[in-house]
Amino acid sequence: MADATILVLNGPNLNLLGVREPETYGRETLADIEELCLERAAALGLAIDFRQSNHEGQLVDWIQEARQTADGIVLNAGAYTHTSIAILDALRSADVPVIEVHLSNIFRREAYRHHSYVSEAAQGVICGFGSQGYTLALEAMTRILGPLDERD
Ligand code: DQA
Repeated sequence: MADATILVLNGPNLNLLGVREPETYGRETLADIEELCLERAAALGLAIDFRQSNHEGQLVDWIQEARQTADGIVLNAGAYTHTSIAILDALRSADVPVIEVHLSNIFRREAYRHHSYVSEAAQGVICGFGSQGYTLALEAMTRILGPLDERD
């Protein structure tokens, strides 16, 4: 049986990880996080499709495609988390489980970061654990999808 494929989607400014506000987001780059995900995914029997875009419409297109190409979505939508009804609508029609991830603890930051549109479509939210949040999300996704030999 083929591995389940997880779309790990990253939104605006996450391409700047490592140099962007390291006191908030840490010193790891997005490439480091991709590497971390690939390692964990291999151990969990998942395939990873890891992407980043600064463009809302591009993220919407990829979420729409996930219906056909992925078994789950791990999403750090960056600032679009707090603004994008378009991303929420796309997630609602994706028909695969969604886990929301943030590197920082958005609830101890500015009030405008406390509301997430993504959360309305997410099975769960992991925030505040830095890059480890991504691997925690992959572990949670494995549980949600169930044992390999029982997947459709
Ligand atoms: C973020 C939190 C968002 O509020 C912010 O706009 C980001 C990154 C995080 O990973 O902590 O770009 O999603």
